Amino acid sequence: MNSEAVTVLGSTGSVGENTLDVISRNPGRYRVTALTAHRNVERLAEQCVRFDVQLAVIADPALENELYSALKVLGANAAVMSGQAGLVAAAGLSEVDIVMAAIVGAAGLKPTLRAAETGKKVLLANKESLVIAGDVFVKTARINGARVLPVDSEHNAIFQAMPGGFEEGLEQAGVEKIILTASGGPFLNTPTAQLSQVTPAQACKHPNWDMGRKISVDSATLMNKGLELIEARWLFNAHPGQLEVLIHPQSIVHSMVAYRDGSVLAQLGNPDMRTPIAHALAWPERIEAGVERLNLAQESDLSFCPPDFDRFPCLGLAFEAMRAGESAPVTLNAANEIAVEAFLDERIAFTRIGSLVSEVMQCLEVSAINNLDDVLMHDKLARSKAMELVK
Ligand SMILES: NC(=O)c1ccc[n+]([C@@H]2O[C@H](COP(=O)([O-])OP(=O)(O)OC[C@H]3O[C@@H](n4cnc5c(N)ncnc54)[C@H](OP(=O)(O)O)[C@@H]3O)[C@@H](O)[C@H]2O)c1
Repeated sequence: MNSEAVTVLGSTGSVGENTLDVISRNPGRYRVTALTAHRNVERLAEQCVRFDVQLAVIADPALENELYSALKVLGANAAVMSGQAGLVAAAGLSEVDIVMAAIVGAAGLKPTLRAAETGKKVLLANKESLVIAGDVFVKTARINGARVLPVDSEHNAIFQAMPGGFEEGLEQAGVEKIILTASGGPFLNTPTAQLSQVTPAQACKHPNWDMGRKISVDSATLMNKGLELIEARWLFNAHPGQLEVLIHPQSIVHSMVAYRDGSVLAQLGNPDMRTPIAHALAWPERIEAGVERLNLAQESDLSFCPPDFDRFPCLGLAFEAMRAGESAPVTLNAANEIAVEAFLDERIAFTRIGSLVSEVMQCLEVSAINNLDDVLMHDKLARSKAMELVK
């Protein structure tokens, strides 16, 4: 079997590192061609040496020389690029077969879209791309023959629970409902009165998953589940009424699909991102992921309950944005990115995240999205409104 060439966008992050771990457990099957990071020059350079890559990209242009020097010291052969142009180049390299899209936030949109434009197998972790530009992204992938495989554990689970495919539509596949499970995050049982006092460190300490800081805060507010609803809407061509959220604190059932005949198919596993990463990398085959095996005899307590929308207002806002469509999810996402950054910098309280997103959504009217420029314009508008409110 010929090895497949892989670009990892966001290789220094949690999903990026896990991807390289899975690749290293399957020698000869993949070769890593390009890696990208935002500012972590040291880690990126180490990875470039370890995987002998051809292209290293640092998103912050001010660090290009530093990366060049770091690679030279380590004796690496990689060419160096920077900025959005570098990220887009890494995503579209003609010799690359697979692109892991694991940049966090809307910053991942253009390179992820480039991977779709160039017909790659796109392993999609960067949910924000679909949240803000779902229609543009799905059409671009379809026109260019790109195969989009979900890496988010819930969407990967849903994909696995539809073994007959869903290309002809959910109706045709007999699907009644898609049920996304949510752990509820670190504050599932914290008294509501204490939520305004929680710190970034507490919010980033997820009970089951080890993830980057932004998605950890999103998991604590349940905005992550809201973004996932919108992601699922585009990935599976679902209408809002077909999507539900169920709290499942143990994170063993990663999501479910309910069928017309009463069957419910679920995918289970220990909470370790290497399972969905390995699944998407090798699909339709199965490869070693280094994941601890699930022992259901030790999981005596698998519980489920509906979400509490008063405790987690961000989930309600995301449902609202999904139903409104057009620019509403762009506004939701941009305002959330600004609010989460402000919370992580200790400029606003945890509970202000939801109210700030809500205020930005109320201020900005929902308008039509026809192309990428419309997306970028609304993203910018919502960011500046959110920044004004943070001040
Ligand atoms: N972590 C998980 O378990 C998980 C699960 C499901 C889905 N996801 C999704 O996967 C994506 C990545 O999450 P993560 O947890 O891996 O994030 P992370 O640990 O924060 O890593 C983010 C990666 O993106 C790079 N990056 C950050 N800002 C950038 C920018 N402006 N331009 C270019 N690159 C940038 C970072 O580089 P530096 O290291 O240099 O900052 C890093 O390589 C997110 O969309 C998240 O929602 C994550």
